[in-house]
Amino acid sequence: MNQLPINPFKFGDPVEGDYFLPRPDLESFVAQFLINRIHVVLIGPRRFGKTSFLLNLLKKLTEHSHSYIFVDIFNITSHKDFLHQILRALKAREGWTDILKSLIKSIPKIRPKVSAQVDANTGQPSLDFTWDTIASSENDIKEMIQDVLSGLGKLENGLIFAIDEFQKITEINDEGWLEATLRTHMQQLRNTSFIFTGSRRSVIYDMLNNPSRPLYKFCQPIEFPAFGDEFTDWVLKRFNDIGIKCHREAIEHLRKIVQDSPNYVQMVCFHLVALGKNNITIEEVNNALKIVVQQNAYAYQTLLSTLPPTQQRTLRLAAKEGKQIFAKELLSKYEISSGAALSSAIKALKDKEILDEEGAGRGTVIFDDPLFAIWLKTSFDD
Ligand SMILES: Nc1ncnc2c1ncn2[C@@H]1O[C@H](COP(=O)(O)OP(=O)(O)OP(=O)(O)O)[C@@H](O)[C@H]1O
Ligand SMILES: [Mg+2]
Repeated sequence: MNQLPINPFKFGDPVEGDYFLPRPDLESFVAQFLINRIHVVLIGPRRFGKTSFLLNLLKKLTEHSHSYIFVDIFNITSHKDFLHQILRALKAREGWTDILKSLIKSIPKIRPKVSAQVDANTGQPSLDFTWDTIASSENDIKEMIQDVLSGLGKLENGLIFAIDEFQKITEINDEGWLEATLRTHMQQLRNTSFIFTGSRRSVIYDMLNNPSRPLYKFCQPIEFPAFGDEFTDWVLKRFNDIGIKCHREAIEHLRKIVQDSPNYVQMVCFHLVALGKNNITIEEVNNALKIVVQQNAYAYQTLLSTLPPTQQRTLRLAAKEGKQIFAKELLSKYEISSGAALSSAIKALKDKEILDEEGAGRGTVIFDDPLFAIWLKTSFDD
């Protein structure tokens, strides 16, 4: 095998450094709010680069005497998980032992177990804390969450508290307790700005625009925009740097097909490099897309087979038509009995996080996974 070039593309996880194209305008826009202690919710589709953007922004703000806590709640299922994620985030901070000492003093319920460990890589001894919350009752956990949040008030000024995948807190069945608790502390903590990210547009908008919810009009929503032409320039340069010729139209075409998700653009470009292509045209992009979609075919097939027929037809309709899907002739073409049946299928598919509705516009849906849409389109081609 010849020497393999380092692939200039990365996908899946958040990116930084060379793999990350900065968004300076959005950065300073969002920073303005945070610096002035206006809480922000960044709303954008899945795999659009929200986490990468947020982490990069937080790091930048530390250069301007801010500090942050970054909590990822993507996998939480309970209050206990939420608490653990916050404690983990605190532990990830530099100087966390001091912070913890001050927090622990104010939070008698948290009894850390301290253990000395030797780092396997560096041989450095280090202290580690774990929390014994296993035996705690639900009420204890709730109290601890409140204590930890009010404990933040003891930390430095200009603190930024970031929660990634914010809509997850609505999935905990607690009649809005966590939402209300957060609001109370967001109001009380004069030293802290909050920033949340979310991808379930309809869920987030309901949280912010429904007068009966605790966070009603309490955060500034900011739409996370797609990249402009600078992203195409950046991709072309990444190819060029390793001696691969790539046509601009090919990348413009790719961006359109994957709904402008930088993740899928990077994924397909990664494959193009891995396949050893050195003159990339629209046709090469289509071939690589086919390969990538094919790799997921089994998962898509399985997913589809778990859905009732009306939902399957709705997906086919959405993949093929995308817009104005409530039109009468489309309903009959795709064998959907009525507008109401379509509505309820869309609702079910939204709950399953397969589809989402575009803005307020009824009739335009987007796929959570644009490759799934491509697969549907090609599998049911006339
Ligand atoms: N600023 C960027 N420049 C270049 N590529 C990017 C950028 N942001 C994101 N990406 C691409 O998108 C992928 C996913 O990024 P990230 O995890 O930040 O998105 P996300 O919106 O948080 O996704 P998820 O919905 O899965 O949480 C990265 O691996 C990378 O390929
Ligand atoms: Mg993310």
